[in-house]
Amino acid sequence: MWWLVFPGAALLFLLVILIRSSRERKMLSETCYTVYIKDLPEAFYDTELAFLSDLHGEDFGENGSALAETLLRDPPALVLAGGDMLTVKKGIPFDTHSLESILQALSGRIPVYYALGNHESRMREYPEDFPGWYGRFLSLTEKYGVILLDNASAYYEKDGQKLRISGVTLDRKYYKKGRTERMKVSDVDAAIGPSGDCPEIVMMHSPMYGKTLSAWGADLVLSGHFHGGTVRLPFLGGVMTPQFQFFSSYAKGEKHFGRTTEIISGGLGTHSIRIRFMNKPEIIRIRLLRDGRK
Ligand SMILES: [Fe+2]
Repeated sequence: MWWLVFPGAALLFLLVILIRSSRERKMLSETCYTVYIKDLPEAFYDTELAFLSDLHGEDFGENGSALAETLLRDPPALVLAGGDMLTVKKGIPFDTHSLESILQALSGRIPVYYALGNHESRMREYPEDFPGWYGRFLSLTEKYGVILLDNASAYYEKDGQKLRISGVTLDRKYYKKGRTERMKVSDVDAAIGPSGDCPEIVMMHSPMYGKTLSAWGADLVLSGHFHGGTVRLPFLGGVMTPQFQFFSSYAKGEKHFGRTTEIISGGLGTHSIRIRFMNKPEIIRIRLLRDGRK
């Protein structure tokens, strides 16, 4: 009977993960980072941004309002949404209610900048599979005054000083499973133009291109997509990303490339593999400081 020990233990571990995951998927958490930016204009010292990613239609709290309430309890200056806030898959109905409740709560209070993930892009790329979905998504963002950054930039201004916020929309080749497509600085130039002379914050849904964005001139890169690696283990990190990378160092957390900081969200929701283990849904809060300033 000794040979039953290993499969028995594996089955027990899987059961623990599934039971814990069903609770953990609703356990909203906040992760705080401090990011130092060279030559940050004085108007933005101590500015706080919130970054949301990969909501995938998840609800939090009894009436689905916990995420907005958590943000508004200590309101950031701006909210950045890094894509995959909806789930777009064949056989799953178009469901915007959780995204809409957040946008509605923030509308008129906090500016929201929104970059596209692979799920938002999919609505546009496959209109025959998702008829009218992308138009309905655009209407929703317009209704609540969201600043959509679809290969575009916008300036956030305060006291005559500026931060540039950009969203790079990635082609589907960058999301291929089992491989990482190369990206050049000229590809970023083609999407959002060259970097300028004010701090550059770039949202790019895949976390794999922080080094390229650093060479482009980004100060802060915000990414998600890998859902923290789904199941996280002590010392080993995230087990598997949606692109089938195992124990990737890009699953979640903070990376540095020269003067550039990349922050990778573990995300807020799930879709095909509806598991989160030691990987609570996270709102990211980022405090900006001038490089070297304490
Ligand atoms: Fe994604």
